[in-house]
Amino acid sequence: MSSTSTIFQISLLFFITNLLLSVLFPEYVYAYDGYDECSKSFRCGSFTNIGYPFWTNGQSEYCGHPAFKLDCEGDNVTIDITSQKYHVLNVSYEYQILKIARTDYRSSICPKSFVNITFNVTDFFNITVNDEYATLLYDCDPTEDQAHNKFSCPINDRVVDFYFTAPTLTGPEISARCNFSLLVPVLDIAIERLIDFSMTIEQVIKEGFEVKWNLDAEECFECTDSGGKCGYNRTLNDFTCFCPDQPYSTKCRKGPPYFASLCLMTGVYMFYQKSTKSKDMETMMAIASSPFF
Ligand SMILES: *[C@@H]1O[C@H](CO)[C@@H](O)[C@H](O)[C@H]1NC(C)=O
Ligand SMILES: *[C@@H]1O[C@H](CO)[C@@H](O)[C@H](O)[C@H]1NC(C)=O
Ligand SMILES: *[C@@H]1O[C@H](CO)[C@@H](O)[C@H](O)[C@H]1NC(C)=O
Ligand SMILES: *[C@@H]1O[C@H](CO)[C@@H](O)[C@H](O)[C@H]1NC(C)=O
Ligand SMILES: *[C@@H]1O[C@H](CO)[C@@H](O)[C@H](O)[C@H]1NC(C)=O
Ligand SMILES: *[C@@H]1O[C@H](CO)[C@@H](O)[C@H](O)[C@H]1NC(C)=O
Ligand SMILES: *[C@@H]1O[C@H](CO)[C@@H](O)[C@H](O)[C@H]1NC(C)=O
Repeated sequence: MSSTSTIFQISLLFFITNLLLSVLFPEYVYAYDGYDECSKSFRCGSFTNIGYPFWTNGQSEYCGHPAFKLDCEGDNVTIDITSQKYHVLNVSYEYQILKIARTDYRSSICPKSFVNITFNVTDFFNITVNDEYATLLYDCDPTEDQAHNKFSCPINDRVVDFYFTAPTLTGPEISARCNFSLLVPVLDIAIERLIDFSMTIEQVIKEGFEVKWNLDAEECFECTDSGGKCGYNRTLNDFTCFCPDQPYSTKCRKGPPYFASLCLMTGVYMFYQKSTKSKDMETMMAIASSPFF
């Protein structure tokens, strides 16, 4: 038997087995949409390999969690948390931490109006132990003028002096003599740099802060481990594991079809052996092209 004819025979064997499989178990050959769609990780700004729970425009929304939609515009990666847009500065899957900064501070750290600014903790994002709430105080008693860490901003057509304070930033106690305050989450480490003069107040605020995302990482590991792709079913409002055959609530089920395909392959092979012995290739071709397929 020549090697070309062996290759031909093996190819034919695979071709016929696949045809039989596609008829008997179509869902195993034509992978479920969610499985294919959510297999691809994506690139967002300078972040590569982004995947569940994150998703982005142009991707099926069931590949990610509703609270974790990223907007990727060139190098600007943003996320909306309680209707506030934040720049995503870093992503750590290992610790489930995002480093974020409000987009409206990118051009200027001056508040546009007299409102308290804070980070609203949600079910999915919370500030971390590396953050602290800095306070911007304004409309203060003029005798505070000698205070450090002062900057001014135009608000409502007047120039307003701000004082920057933070729990770990020692300085004169001035809050008692100011009418307004703004709370801004910042990083402890940035406050340290402010103290040793290696950062300005503006840099401290633009440096952003960390939030921990609160989603069970275990369910995605378990799904991936079983050969599935993590996703989220918005109808059920729950995690879903997209497997080659269908979605499951936790992980892929390995079952009879694998065994069945093995039996089928053996069966086809035995039939093939028998028919080649009788040199009846025409029978094989006839079966392969019969209307049954
Ligand atoms: C990124 O954001 C900056 C400032 O907001 C803006 O000037 C720039 O055009 C943005 N880049 C893209 C690609 O959207
Ligand atoms: C926090 O929640 C309040 C009240 O719902 C809202 O007015 C404010 O804009 C939110 N702030 C941020 C930063 O999301
Ligand atoms: C993200 O943070 C890690 C360590 O915290 C650092 O090594 C990495 O360079 C940061 N990546 C970006 C894009 O800032
Ligand atoms: C901000 O919140 C603090 C306490 O939470 C309050 O004393 C202050 O008046 C608030 N400022 C504004 C501008 O709402
Ligand atoms: C957020 O984190 C703080 C401390 O980091 C913790 O005290 C608080 O309970 C957390 N809140 C939620 C809703 O998880
Ligand atoms: C706080 O506001 C009140 C009323 O507008 C004003 O009389 C007072 O001078 C202000 N206090 C400071 C320290 O500016
Ligand atoms: C979500 O679950 C519903 C009900 O089980 C199902 O009909 C739907 O196809 C599922 N959606 C996805 C994207 O899996």
